[in-house]
Formats: sequence, structure tokens, C-alpha cells
Amino acid sequence: MALAPLSQIPADVVAVDDYIELAKARMSPQAWAYFSGGVADERLLADNIHAWHQYSVMPRVLSDFDGATTAFSLLNKTHPFPIFCAPIAYQRMAHPAGELASALAAAAMETPYIISMQSSTPLEPLCEQAPGTKWLQWYWQTDESASQKLLSKAQALGIEAIVLTVDAPVNGLRNREQRAGFALPADIQAVLLEDFDIPPLPQGAPGESPIFGSGFLANTPNWDKVEQFMENCPLPVMLKGILHPLDAQKALEVGAKGIIVSNHGARVLDILPPTARVLKSICDLIDGRIPVLVDGGIRRGSDVFIALALGATAVMIGRPYLYALAAAGAPGVAHVLHILRTELEVCMALSGCTTPAQIKSIELLSH
Ligand code: FNR
Ligand code: LAC
Repeated sequence: MALAPLSQIPADVVAVDDYIELAKARMSPQAWAYFSGGVADERLLADNIHAWHQYSVMPRVLSDFDGATTAFSLLNKTHPFPIFCAPIAYQRMAHPAGELASALAAAAMETPYIISMQSSTPLEPLCEQAPGTKWLQWYWQTDESASQKLLSKAQALGIEAIVLTVDAPVNGLRNREQRAGFALPADIQAVLLEDFDIPPLPQGAPGESPIFGSGFLANTPNWDKVEQFMENCPLPVMLKGILHPLDAQKALEVGAKGIIVSNHGARVLDILPPTARVLKSICDLIDGRIPVLVDGGIRRGSDVFIALALGATAVMIGRPYLYALAAAGAPGVAHVLHILRTELEVCMALSGCTTPAQIKSIELLSH
């Protein structure tokens, strides 16, 4: 039986990973398998975290810290620090207040919150009650008119950008979830899709491969469809799930307003590279023409620092804030953002960097 969320944050929770065991104790084994698990043997799940540790920083001492700041600008807006909340589906399964608690915490910390297309909370309360910057994550839909209707509604509600996830045309085979017998509880739904009657993808004919054949992949997007989607979309679109520099180049060419280097938190394919290993070549190729965000395995402000040193504009965190949500609700999510921001500031102070731009020119040792 899952425990009630904590009403206060224990004094010994000082790093984001300190929320892991608290979260696990407050969820059913099935929900825990869903939120914490990765694909197949979960090798990438561990590698995503460890890959940030392959770098050391060559510090500079005795810098002048007048006017030091973590603020930076993205899509014509200044953000106080470069750590955003990644889209995570079905958050009411982690905490009764679900997405609303996370969005409120992000708003309180003045950092963007990205609503999952599979949000278990409708858009209206999220947009009306949580005042901060919000983006909406989306998957390309066969029914483009339903999709455009929802995107117009999102715009009317004040959502500022669309994150189009392109790395999961089919679900990964998440064995941990399968072994735990995970199924969505009856009271948790992808309410955004239901509101707009977006139909499930067609199934293949009997006897055909469930993935190839006329079934699933026949209805997935390609570059032409994504380009068209971006032309019709009333909001700036960023592509999430880019790992190859040539895809980053293509995203730029077809008009993406940003890219998010991501392997979907190790939930789609276990043989993908950790994001820390591909980030630099993508940032070098993009060369500042559009923002490059990154997620996957970021658990410390020092990981954020390394991501910025490799060229990222900002990072997103997934499981760390979800675990804090499960354990302690909105205060937990705000706490995690605060911890990471503080760790980043300490890192900057101890390496001689006064701004995110300066982090980009710090020398890294790779080992
Ligand atoms: C996700 N992620 C995700 N991504 C997306 O584009 N749409 C979604 O609905 C979800 N849902 C989702 C659920 C759960 C439980 C997890 C853990 C992840 C991926 C997410 O946005 C992000 O890419 C990763 O979570 C980042 O990795 P870390 O920080 O969890 O290691
Ligand atoms: C996941 C989907 C919802 O990773 O993106 O669970």
C-alpha cells in the first residue's frame, strides 16, 4: 500500500537522489516500474547518468564575480536559470495533484514546465492556476485537424512553444513494466487526447507484423510531415529526441526553433548513446543558430554545468522532479529545482564562471 505524500521535506534530503527511496515507498510497485524504469536491460538508463561523469573541469581561480548570474535567454525570453521540467506523462499516478503541483512548483521557481501530451490533468487548470512559462509536448497525429485544434487552444491558453517528440514512433519494450504487470489505473487518463477525440493509431491486419506492415509505422511522421506540421503550427516548435548531428542539421533546415538532444530517458531503445556523448558534436554543428537543450541522467548541478560546457543552452530534468513530486508534492519539485540551481551556482563560483556563456568556454578534460 502506497504511503501518503510527505507534509514536510525531511532535513536529510539534500541532493536530488535523496528523493528516490522516498518516492519508491509512496508508489505502487507498478507505478514505480513505470516511472523509474527504462527499456530492455536498462543499460542506457545507467549510462545516461554515468556519461556526465566522464568529464572534469579545469577551474580558473580568483575570478571577479561582480554581476555573476545563471540567467540566459531562450526564444526571446530571459530565464533565471537553465534547468527546465521535461514532459512526463500521467503524473497523477505519482501524486494526487499531479501535473498541477509540478507546474506550480516550476512557476514558483520561474522556470519553464513542459506539459506532456499524455498529461493526466487538463490544460485549463494547468494554464489558469500555474502562472509560469509553459510549453506543450506533442506527438505528430494522423488526424492533423484535431491536432491543430488542440494546438490553437494551447496557444489561446498562453502556452508558448510546442515540443514535438520524434524519437518514439513506437513504444520501447520496457521489460521492467511488463514484469510488474503495469497497466494504467482506471482513474488516470491522457485527458488532452480524449478531449479532442484523437483516435488511437490503426492496428495492422491479422497475421501482419504489429510494427511494420500496414499497421503502426505506416502512420508515423517523416521529415516532410514534420515540416508541414511546423508550418501550420501557430507556436514555435522544437524537436525532441535528436541524437545524430545530421538530424540536428535537418531540424535546422526544416525550420525547428530549437532541438532537444534526448534518448527519451532511456525508455525507447537500449543501444542508443547517452546524451552526454553526442551533445558536443551536435552543438558544434548547430553553432548557436538555434537553442540546443539536452536531457537524460542529469542528477547534479555539476551535470548541468558539464552540459552547458559542451554547448547546451539549457537542460531538462525528468525523473528527479517526478520523484520529488511523489514524495512531497509541489514543495518537493521546487526543492529539487532549488538544489540543482544552487549546485550549479556553486560549480560556477568554484570554477571561475560568472555566466552561462562563460561556461561554454571553460576547458574540459575527458576521461
Ligand atoms: C518520460 N518522457 C517523456 N517524453 C515525452 O516527450 N513525452 C512524454 O509523455 C514522456 N513521458 C515520460 C514518462 C516518464 C515516466 C519518464 C521517466 C520520461 C521523457 C522525458 O521527457 C525526458 O526525456 C527524460 O525523462 C529525461 O531523462 P531523466 O531526467 O528522467 O533521466
Ligand atoms: C513514456 C511515454 C509516455 O515514456 O513518452 O512513458
